[in-house]
Amino acid sequence: MTGNLAKAAKVVHCSARRSRVFFIKCVWQYCVNGKECAEKMELALNRFSMPAIRAIFAPMQILDGTAVAAHIKAQIKEEAAAMKASGGKTPHLAAVLVGNDPASEAYVGSKVRTCEELGFGSTLIRLEASITEGELLEVVKKLNADPEVNGILVQLPLPKHISDDIIINNIDPKKDVDGFHPISQGKMLLGQPGFLPATPYGILLMLEHYNIDTTGKHCVVIGRSNIVGTPMTVLMSRNSNPGNATVTICHSKTTNLKEMVLSADIIIAAIGRPRFVTADMVKEGAIVIDVGINRIDDPTRKSGSRLVGDVDFDNVAPKCSYITPVPKGVGPMTICGLMKNTLLAAKQA
Ligand code: GUN
Repeated sequence: MTGNLAKAAKVVHCSARRSRVFFIKCVWQYCVNGKECAEKMELALNRFSMPAIRAIFAPMQILDGTAVAAHIKAQIKEEAAAMKASGGKTPHLAAVLVGNDPASEAYVGSKVRTCEELGFGSTLIRLEASITEGELLEVVKKLNADPEVNGILVQLPLPKHISDDIIINNIDPKKDVDGFHPISQGKMLLGQPGFLPATPYGILLMLEHYNIDTTGKHCVVIGRSNIVGTPMTVLMSRNSNPGNATVTICHSKTTNLKEMVLSADIIIAAIGRPRFVTADMVKEGAIVIDVGINRIDDPTRKSGSRLVGDVDFDNVAPKCSYITPVPKGVGPMTICGLMKNTLLAAKQA
């Protein structure tokens, strides 16, 4: 603690009078409150928003997607069981997988396994990569008409000869548990109740779980995809918590990206480039949400590869107040978003 105080004193020495007064008050609290001081200090540091001092006293916290997801899944399971017990439906998700991309196989596999875990019904439809757009549309239409199926997801990306937009636009909006249909996206934009895209929804659930106040913060979203980046900007700027942030969206054509990201209190990295966000782009005390899942070569692993995010975790983490790891960060939360949407679809069916 003495070391920390000395470091903080150095920072404060170069700061404004108000900061110096604040620092003295904090030290006084430390002396008076003994054991309670860590929590009080955390509250005070958050309130006064002094990231440099905050980084010294308040350690970085990993946002544990696996643990939060377990908690939320237990709630969903309980709700689904109660719904069934009172004569309601058993939520049922139909997942369509076209081709055999290993990453898509893994994602769909884990969505179907989660359905089993929660007592939901599930149907996995595997189709050859050579299927035509017309044939896939027929599959979607059959699922739209099936009263047993409450939620439909078509795993993306689809083969190049099939239009994602045409397939998504033909999913019944009442079963659009991915939240990708224009009606779902339009409702989200207007702040009307509906299905939120699963990954942004999962990120909101995580911020909520950890009681992270996003109000008035500058949130920089890197990436402008329809399924993560763009909806994330809408959700972080809406008038609720999580939300109420001032949002900037950055993408491949942003010229002053480093400058933008350096000014962020919250960084949401969804650009799909391994370890793109480096420590020199992140300010002290930032909250970092890493959406990337990139496989890179790693000869030290038996498999010869490993997963990394869009953030250079090892070097960025020490600067953060909160950070999500990859894997076990946003990934499990995306599945929670999808399962919450499927439960909602069954309730409304
Ligand atoms: N591909 C990458 N993320 C997703 C997702 O959330 N849903 C679907 N259907 N495909 C994806």
